[in-house]
Amino acid sequence: MEIIRTIAELRQWRREAGRVALVPTMGNLHQGHLALVREAREAADRVVVSIFVNRLQFGQGEDFGAYPRTFDADCAKLIEAGVDVLFFPDEKELYPRVKQDFNVEPPHVQDELCGMFRPGHFRGVATVVCKLFNIVQPDVACFGKKDYQQLHIIRAMTEDLNIPVTLIPVDTGRAGDGLALSSRNGYLSEAERAEAPRLYRCLSLMRERLQDGVQDYATLEGDARATLERHGWVVDYVEVRQADSLEIAHAGEKHLVVLAAARLGRTRLIDNVEIAR
Ligand code: PAJ
Repeated sequence: MEIIRTIAELRQWRREAGRVALVPTMGNLHQGHLALVREAREAADRVVVSIFVNRLQFGQGEDFGAYPRTFDADCAKLIEAGVDVLFFPDEKELYPRVKQDFNVEPPHVQDELCGMFRPGHFRGVATVVCKLFNIVQPDVACFGKKDYQQLHIIRAMTEDLNIPVTLIPVDTGRAGDGLALSSRNGYLSEAERAEAPRLYRCLSLMRERLQDGVQDYATLEGDARATLERHGWVVDYVEVRQADSLEIAHAGEKHLVVLAAARLGRTRLIDNVEIAR
């Protein structure tokens, strides 16, 4: 595996590379990321994984400084997974003027769901992903459905800005007990880790009820919130939305997604389940 740290060298490599798939990450790689890599390998001749902890998408008081940086372990996993290039730029390479003057401004959906609790987050995500697309110029790029709102915003960005990349959405990788794999799971204490799968259990129960035809979304949302709060969670949101548009869902909708974000101690976890009826 080649490790490339500069945009110039990456562009040089790209010229000869044929069909390229990109998997953007912030590192601290787990099986969820590696599932994206497997999809990428199926879809292209060459796979680039990027590791960049993007300051722009972290708010004040969030975990930018504490975010786990595990370069050696990540490299070993990527070599094992057959990745061709690791793109590993430092901050100066991606943000040479420190302040990013031009940004990709997502529409109002950036202020909803996770965006309500993380102002500016999705602007930071869209901006760095747009930059990575322009640098790597991949034919395809893989994103996890674990970050459903992020995937939605990146899809809208590529469509609205005519970015010539095909997105491949990848199902959420989970631990045996259902907890969605995440770099932030490492922050959980033993007791919190034992409690954490409740989030997915609550969403799964909502999925069952929706599949049974329940249409009172507000009651379902309220029940899930109450269950989590009873077990010590601080709930940011639990919401039933339209799966394709992420707009508010109305009774009778066919393709739904239930999204949630909630905190256990200092750790904020997100998850979602899709429902087709
Ligand atoms: P990161 O959290 O490292 O995730 C990188 C990619 O892995 C994202 O597409 C994410 O949805 C996917 N992913 C994470 N956990 C997953 C799981 N359990 N199952 C399936 N896919 C999973 O998301 C980001 O980084 C950043 O916002 C980024 C897009 C790299 C921009 O900075």
